[in-house]
Amino acid sequence: MPQQSPLDRRKFFGSAAAMSLSAASYAKVLGSADRVRVGFLGCGGRAQAHIDLINRFAQNGQAVAPVAVCDVWDGLEDEYDVEFGGKVTRRRYAQGLRPSARKCGLDPADRTRVTKDYRRVLDLADVDVVCISTPDHWHGKMTVDALAAGKDVFVEKPLTRTAEEATAVLDAWKRTGRVVTVGVQSMADPVWVKAFDHVRAGKIGHVAHAQTGFFRNDVRGQWRYYRLAPEMTPRTVDWDLFLGHQFELGGRKLGPTPKEQPFDRAAFAQWRCYWPFSGGPFTDLLVHSITHITAAMGVRFPARVAAGGGLYLEYDGRDVPDVGTVVADYDEGCQLVVTAATITGYPLEEVIRGRLGAIRFVKGGFQVFRDDPSRGASFPGRLERPAEPTEFVAAEPPRNDTEALWENFLESVRARRQSTFSPPDLGAAAVATAAMAVQSYRTGQALFWDRERRAVAAADAGWAERWEKRSQARGKASQVFGWSGGDAGSTLQPPGYQGLAGPWANGKDPAG
Ligand SMILES: NC(=O)c1ccc[n+]([C@@H]2O[C@H](COP(=O)([O-])OP(=O)(O)OC[C@H]3O[C@@H](n4cnc5c(N)ncnc54)[C@H](O)[C@@H]3O)[C@@H](O)[C@H]2O)c1
Repeated sequence: MPQQSPLDRRKFFGSAAAMSLSAASYAKVLGSADRVRVGFLGCGGRAQAHIDLINRFAQNGQAVAPVAVCDVWDGLEDEYDVEFGGKVTRRRYAQGLRPSARKCGLDPADRTRVTKDYRRVLDLADVDVVCISTPDHWHGKMTVDALAAGKDVFVEKPLTRTAEEATAVLDAWKRTGRVVTVGVQSMADPVWVKAFDHVRAGKIGHVAHAQTGFFRNDVRGQWRYYRLAPEMTPRTVDWDLFLGHQFELGGRKLGPTPKEQPFDRAAFAQWRCYWPFSGGPFTDLLVHSITHITAAMGVRFPARVAAGGGLYLEYDGRDVPDVGTVVADYDEGCQLVVTAATITGYPLEEVIRGRLGAIRFVKGGFQVFRDDPSRGASFPGRLERPAEPTEFVAAEPPRNDTEALWENFLESVRARRQSTFSPPDLGAAAVATAAMAVQSYRTGQALFWDRERRAVAAADAGWAERWEKRSQARGKASQVFGWSGGDAGSTLQPPGYQGLAGPWANGKDPAG
């Protein structure tokens, strides 16, 4: 099969919104020779990879440059020993404001370009793009403010921490017409679009079910490998700005007050373990999996979400569970099951199951397994040996997916095109799913996504009733978006004696 070109991929992603840009977004059009000037908001571990990439692009002659950095921590540059797996490894460490300024070639004493307050960076007219790599609770607010300030945005995953924040970002994205991409680097792999093409063409029939997950196992406790340093203190960290309690998005405070959450090195550097800043495995890990599998399935916002799980082993003061499963059901008539565990490593296969076959994602592409409902199930209940695929579709992953995501984003910035490999409409749906899972896990309730109000609501019996009604009315199957597969694999062939079914009224045989 020929490689899918980026142009083909654009048709699908950025997608519902493959929109033309508003007049406002043309206010500042970059020529191809103009440098794209990048400001970094949040300069911790992940941001270092982004800074390194932008520096490398610039060294290789690309018209891009780092021009500002923001972090609430002064930062630290040193070497330290990591003891793990029976070995001691010497590691270099350079994170936070001043080390990142130096890495970007900026003067750490330049208070206009090196700042703890992100609003100063947004005030700079010569910043074209911001890269947001703060903890999750800041993503939404910074993205909305950056768009209002006329910047394009590369925002790390998850797009936001809550579903409400995600819709606020989507509104700002549509209103401003600016370019936003979400840092789910697996979206730079063409495999998801190739699989989506396969799915929507009806090759596996009606999509019924998909599964994916994320598994980790670390004796230190998940995310405790993020280093705590004595140099992290209330003097070096602007704790108010970290917490975000003086800021709001959609009428809700971003984070707790210092009274509710006093300065604590673990909350600062291992924030993924605590609810105010993260949804734990649901938002940190599963957002990756949910984003790319829903892209391949052809679904976005779920209709109903329920989550289970618990904190079964990692009793180290954390809030978030170490095993969690999301069950998401879709109006399109299918279900996604996603599990994350941070206390066991054996993975779940990434699979999409349809009426006429299944797709299994493997390195370098996907396998297709034919299923034939006219002959009964094609697979034994327990696979004694791996099932034989009927087809393999190759998709060459990029050498460096984060680099490919940035290249695609910068290309869109120059072309003033809102579609990217990892657009916010896809990211918002993934966040909504993960955030609803957090809410469901914490409250014990199943939840609906109210499409009209674009809000989370308590689930009721309406979901099951709706499908029962469809069955009673002998309705048609719903399909994933872009469906061009016709009825094959989406209809029933009832046995002849089914004509004998039906209620007897007044002693009369409905079959005549
Ligand atoms: N795509 C990926 O594979 C990947 C990998 C790692 C992290 N991430 C994402 O990147 C983000 C950052 O993760 P990390 O591991 O670098 O965390 P980190 O804790 O190492 O870095 C976060 C940085 O943000 C700073 N910060 C906090 N509040 C701030 C504010 N209001 N203004 C400016 N700076 C602020 C902190 O001081 C810290 O230096 C997270 O959202 C995470 O989900 C993505």
